[in-house]
Amino acid sequence: MTKVLVTGAFGLIGSFTVDLLVEKGYSVIGLDNLERQVHMGRMPSYKNERAEYVIGDIRHRRTWAKVLRGVEYVIHLAASVGMAQSFWQPRKYMEVNVTGTATMFETIVRDVEIRRNIRKIVVASSKSIYGEGSYRCKFHGVFHPPPRSVEQLRRRDWEVRCPVCGVESLPVGIREDKPPQNPTPYALSKYATEVLASIYSAVLGIPFVAFRYFNVYGPRQSLSNPYTGVIAIFLSRIKNNKPPIVYEDGKQMRDFVYVEDVARLNVEAIENEASGVFNLGTGEPHSLLEVIEMLKKIYGSDVEPYITQEYRPGDNRHDFADTTKLRRHFKNTSFTPLSKGLERLVEWAREVHAIDRVDRAERERVKFLGRFDS
Ligand code: UD1
Repeated sequence: MTKVLVTGAFGLIGSFTVDLLVEKGYSVIGLDNLERQVHMGRMPSYKNERAEYVIGDIRHRRTWAKVLRGVEYVIHLAASVGMAQSFWQPRKYMEVNVTGTATMFETIVRDVEIRRNIRKIVVASSKSIYGEGSYRCKFHGVFHPPPRSVEQLRRRDWEVRCPVCGVESLPVGIREDKPPQNPTPYALSKYATEVLASIYSAVLGIPFVAFRYFNVYGPRQSLSNPYTGVIAIFLSRIKNNKPPIVYEDGKQMRDFVYVEDVARLNVEAIENEASGVFNLGTGEPHSLLEVIEMLKKIYGSDVEPYITQEYRPGDNRHDFADTTKLRRHFKNTSFTPLSKGLERLVEWAREVHAIDRVDRAERERVKFLGRFDS
């Protein structure tokens, strides 16, 4: 039986990836540290009984030496994932995400037996490395703007403007060759992850895939971790009968990708010939207001969003994937429509306790980074 190691096996993406691998007949070993912020130190209820699990820390070489034995494929998803939090815990993000990945490669490169068995490595990168999205000016073509200036945001002038003529520009899908901006320690750590994979792919002669995940959502996403994505946060607010808090005007768009689609592509990546860096998004952007309308309808809530007309420092206006490269190299690229994915999320969420910690996270952010306009 082909043995696959999934790190971050109790995470949102990891757990669905484990389930699919088991279903397809792989022998699966899952590594996870049961991160307190996500799991409160407890085994999740969705643990797959047909997989083997190891609780361990990816920063330690002995962890890797234990879990990599006999493994043919690695899907390395374990990481600290709170983008905003990475500003006040940069050392943790570098240690877990960069040193953790480096320790994996160090173990592989030094252990001949482990090294000989491995046939492919998939690593998790993130669209966050891009920073602001790509845009097209009707007069000057496609451009990749820097983050919007504080002066612009203070004017509540939300849309991105052409740097040449100042005209409001429409977003276009981000291609993999867009120069990274790496605006946060988290983004930098993810960029380092994919570059390490690329370096060691060449050194070891092992193909790799680095997926730049867009905004992944779905059942099992922590509804009580305020550092997860906006969909979980909005749903948690709706469940608690509180208005979802919307920054800017709610017309900003994201590429929301359903978690089981991500798991399917992770598995395809170990089975096909693809190698290199790929966007993993649907290519179809949706605005926050659209998301709230869908969630309210599915959940059966009439709570109105609170549209702050305030900005959250560091936020992009719009970002979504150009999926041309993904579609060229992967077969399973039809994605679950947002309404369907949200239905599955809501169905699961009805049974789950959601503690609303948004206010606490906001206090933490203000403590370290100051108020919106400071
Ligand atoms: C990701 C990061 C974010 C970072 C940004 C920069 C995560 C979970 N988020 O955000 O920390 O600043 O990249 O590229 O990794 N929103 C609300 N109300 C909320 C929460 C969010 O209106 O309660 C808005 C945000 O302002 C944003 C949109 O929702 O416009 C999406 O937010 P988020 O889910 O954090 O994803 P990204 O913006 O992609």
